[in-house]
Amino acid sequence: MCGIVGYIGERDAVSVLIESLKKLEYRGYDSAGLALLDGKGKSCVFKTEGEISRLESILPELPARIGIGHTRWATHGKPNTINAHPHVSGSISVVHNGIIENYLELKESLESEGFVFVSDTDTEVLAHLINKYYLKNPGDLAIAIRSALGEVRGSYALSVLSEEHPHELIAARKDSPLILGLGEHENFIASDIPAILKYTNRVIYMENLEMVRVKRDSVQVFDLDGNPRFKEEHIIPWNLEAAEKAGYPHFMLKEIHEQTNSIHETLAGRLQELEGDVIFDELDLDKEQIQNIHRIEIIACGTSFNAGLLGKYLFEGLTGIHTDVDNGSEFRYSNPVLTPSTLVIAITQSGETADTLAAVREATSYGCTTLAITNVVGSTISREASNIIYTRAGPEIGVAATKSFISQLVVLYLLVIHFARARSMMDADRVGKLLSELRKIPGHVSRILEDKENIQKCASRFAESKDYFFIGRNINYPIALEGALKLKEISYIHAEGYAAGELKHGPLALISEDVPVVAIAPQGHTYDKILSNIKEVKSRDASVIAIADSDDGEIAKYVDVVLTVPKTDFILTPLLTTVVVQLLAYYTALERDCSIDKPRNLAKSVTVE
Ligand code: F6R
Repeated sequence: MCGIVGYIGERDAVSVLIESLKKLEYRGYDSAGLALLDGKGKSCVFKTEGEISRLESILPELPARIGIGHTRWATHGKPNTINAHPHVSGSISVVHNGIIENYLELKESLESEGFVFVSDTDTEVLAHLINKYYLKNPGDLAIAIRSALGEVRGSYALSVLSEEHPHELIAARKDSPLILGLGEHENFIASDIPAILKYTNRVIYMENLEMVRVKRDSVQVFDLDGNPRFKEEHIIPWNLEAAEKAGYPHFMLKEIHEQTNSIHETLAGRLQELEGDVIFDELDLDKEQIQNIHRIEIIACGTSFNAGLLGKYLFEGLTGIHTDVDNGSEFRYSNPVLTPSTLVIAITQSGETADTLAAVREATSYGCTTLAITNVVGSTISREASNIIYTRAGPEIGVAATKSFISQLVVLYLLVIHFARARSMMDADRVGKLLSELRKIPGHVSRILEDKENIQKCASRFAESKDYFFIGRNINYPIALEGALKLKEISYIHAEGYAAGELKHGPLALISEDVPVVAIAPQGHTYDKILSNIKEVKSRDASVIAIADSDDGEIAKYVDVVLTVPKTDFILTPLLTTVVVQLLAYYTALERDCSIDKPRNLAKSVTVE
């Protein structure tokens, strides 16, 4: 999730754009850039890797009144100066948020027409494509952009500046946020409200497939066929801090809500329902190499470990490859049995966790192929592992991992399906059906979010508890661990996650009427078993909160509270039950007035052993 800004008016464009970009810094970024028209109408582009202050240090005095700016959070290509935005083709400069899914095929065709690419980004394709159409039919920049967008698959919020059109900026959006700020003899473009609040609180929200021509004294919005659109102006009552959280009281809640979009981004361009396969452009493992893997060792810490544990169930269940999961901190001191036919998968949202990095180095020294699943392009792990898959969840500010976790799960599903196809363990028909179900997951997550009052009520009811248990079986056992981890880290209630069948081997001694038990129980092959486990704890007077399918008419008879998830393929249920346990932890912490985004003693990135 990068940041976009644009300005046209009477002020010094450089200061406005820099100030606006700084207001987007909280979202995280790895490089930044500006494109401006100088006093003579000549286009100037400045960009750097690193912080906005570094960009400021290379900016000359420039009498500019129009320009666009960007902070980049890399998805394609390393976080360096060349890949930073704006990208330029001829007289046209472009900043872009989102992912152009078909950028490789567009790039090949543009290259064959003589366009020269200098970066590894998908955005540069947009700049050349717009320029191509502009060169064919000069005069109207909006028409060229519309033609280019007609060829693009994926998501975008973009803003375009052209030397040939010194009195206007054009912007457009699809599946990536974009707003307009309205002023007196000046107007603004931004991906997020905080960017413009210093200058105006009058905004227009751009909808999907809308485009806008922004001039000093007017904004004209139209659809991608060129038909005008009437847009309402809104007044933003928020202060800046609230605006950064987009109106949510905490980043954690904002990020839980963003999961609908982050799942979508993780899937983007990777599903091939018709062929019944998944593609990972970035993966350097061919079919034969995948067939030759004899064992998978997954290494991770904390929440990422819980994702890894789900990976174990999926890899063993769907690909037949024996899989182990270890904490980074344990693995490196455990004399691991590794051979060159072991694939070592490291999962880390930050890409900087010292224990996970050390374990990857250990694995590399055994000659194993390593594959990192991370959210941060350019992180240390992305430079050290032999293969990388990015989760594309966007920057996560809350210390408690939420959207980065769900995107890790999505990557694991896709990877497992890809391996299962390569090893002929799943047929195309089954894969096609599973991928279509995966596409429905963001919609299902939205439904859970719409029903969050029920989860909040349940959280309040048990917020004074001293201990909590989370139980699950099979693929929902890792989600029981994750529910307990989330609850303990942000609400400071002691919580344990257990494989439901293990209760009777000890922990049952702790169950009493004061201990709520969350039972994750969607209908699947272990449903009857977990019903028995629910009866076990119920008969010891525990209060049971069941997380169950929306069409389960049975479970309410045995439990105190039912929190439902929409019906999906059983194998995908962890993607939904996760959202419920995240919200339960969030609302419990809220009720207990805890420091939700910055829990005591914890950090977002654990770079010490
Ligand atoms: C919990 C949490 C931590 C991290 C752990 C590993 O919400 O965020 O448990 O999961 O510190 O971090 P990464 O994934 O960055 O390696």
